Amino acid sequence: MNRQLCPALDDRVMTAEQAAAFIAPGSHVGMSGFTGAGYPKAVPAALVRRISEAKQRGTPFTVSVWTGASTAPDLDGALASVDGIDLRMPYQSDPVTRSKINAGLLDYLDVHLSHVAQMVWEGFFGQLDVAVIEVAGITADGSLIPSSSVGNNKTWIDQADKVILEVNSWQPAELEGMHDIYYGTALPPNRKPIPLLQAGDRIGEPYLRCPPEKIIAIVATHNPDRNTSFRPPDDASRLIAGHVLDFLAHEVKVGRLPDTLLPLQSGVGNIANAVLIGLEAGPFRPLTAYTEVIQDGMLDLLRSGTVSVASATAFSLSDDGIAELRANIGHYRDRIILRPQEISNHPEVIRRLGCLAMNGMIEADIYGNVNSTHVMGSSIQNGIGGSGDFARNAYISMFLTPSTAKRGAISCIVPMASHVDHTEHDVQVIVTEQGLADLRGLAPRRRAQKIIDHCAHPDYRPALQDYFDRAMASTCGKQTPHLLSEAFAWHSRYLQDGTMQPAPVAPPVSSRPDEPAPARAAR
Ligand code: COA
Repeated sequence: MNRQLCPALDDRVMTAEQAAAFIAPGSHVGMSGFTGAGYPKAVPAALVRRISEAKQRGTPFTVSVWTGASTAPDLDGALASVDGIDLRMPYQSDPVTRSKINAGLLDYLDVHLSHVAQMVWEGFFGQLDVAVIEVAGITADGSLIPSSSVGNNKTWIDQADKVILEVNSWQPAELEGMHDIYYGTALPPNRKPIPLLQAGDRIGEPYLRCPPEKIIAIVATHNPDRNTSFRPPDDASRLIAGHVLDFLAHEVKVGRLPDTLLPLQSGVGNIANAVLIGLEAGPFRPLTAYTEVIQDGMLDLLRSGTVSVASATAFSLSDDGIAELRANIGHYRDRIILRPQEISNHPEVIRRLGCLAMNGMIEADIYGNVNSTHVMGSSIQNGIGGSGDFARNAYISMFLTPSTAKRGAISCIVPMASHVDHTEHDVQVIVTEQGLADLRGLAPRRRAQKIIDHCAHPDYRPALQDYFDRAMASTCGKQTPHLLSEAFAWHSRYLQDGTMQPAPVAPPVSSRPDEPAPARAAR
């Protein structure tokens, strides 16, 4: 089905190979795409072929790849596997790209998603040479119907010298009208308030604008988005969701939240999805969401009416979720608004609306500093994404994780976080399957005791308590007691022994079988 309806642009229609030929070695390329939705499907593959051929001839060929957030194996993974990326920003979650970054083969800039547009405007990353943007269609007057994500597309089109469009007829035509593209942002001192007072407000227009003379190529595609599969909630996710729901009920009871709560933000992943599923059974409604991505659980809440409106920048759906969206898109189109990520994640708006932020994490330390991005201090997992935009500005900022990882070999509550993305000042509530620690109003030493008591796994709780007690004793209290020589011993032990569990302490020679075992001490 032809979705390119603008006669004045007919002469730009070409193959992906012809379009990719416009991308020169060393180019800065702004691609569409956010959590596997709305990324270009044909031109990146053609670019990969071009890069491979150039390399076979012994000609170096890399590009910088800028996106909204994560894309898919056929974009990030394929380019990374031919070593075709020299710099990647602002977020990725692709296993091949991750391994190349961690092998030191490409530079990765992990940026707050709301900051990307202004940093590009300011010129920190250099000039944007080419934008490659997937759209759901081009109208007769040349307006661009955005695809299943908006991300940074407005910024890429504004800032790029040249624009390549992929018109994907796989995307539902009914996406037209779902988007709200705001053209009122500027750099200081010319900024004006973002006039968004409710999650469901529309403040922009449904189309992306692009001067026709910038468009150098239009490629027709018919390819699906990457699907994002979700595990059915396991026991840990159900327990975490239950703790969050009990906490929200308590906040309503004591009058700190209305019974319709405040706009929800839920991060990516299975636990966030489980919390959304839990909300379906809860008493709160009608709810609203001002968030970054629409996951399957959010579609369910919208279908049942538990959530009346959801604002985001992209979808992140499983195959079943995609089928549901397509089957009932008329219903969802009136209840979902997709915005540029500088607006979906805008600190001013998040603060004004009073979002309830729920994000995953890798680990937290006993004082509430949170690591969302690095494994054992050095290896990138994904990136900070929008978690900082929301955590720093939310009305209540929650971080959720199972208390252990790698089948219990890792404690997600550690003496000192091996990398910090969210400081103790931006972390108000920590939740594991063990319980919930509400840290608001607590000084560091009280926070530590609460996190150990409520969030740590019982296998690690005694060792955390022992660390904390000895830190208190050796520093005579102090504000944030630590044993610096031991603070990262748990991580070192994992790297050396494959577990954070302390080695069993040999029983003293004099001990008798009926004596209690000696307490396990953290090394
Ligand atoms: N130490 C080492 N590895 C850990 C760990 C820890 N403390 N905690 C989790 N992991 C590993 C898991 O074992 C898993 O590894 P695998 O892929 O080899 O199986 C991986 O990290 C992902 O963990 P998982 O339990 O599947 O959690 P998740 O899918 O909920 O992801 C984050 C958790 C933190 C990685 C994810 O939420 C994230 O990237 N957050 C940052 C971005 C963000 O918050 N975006 C939303 C903002 S709107």
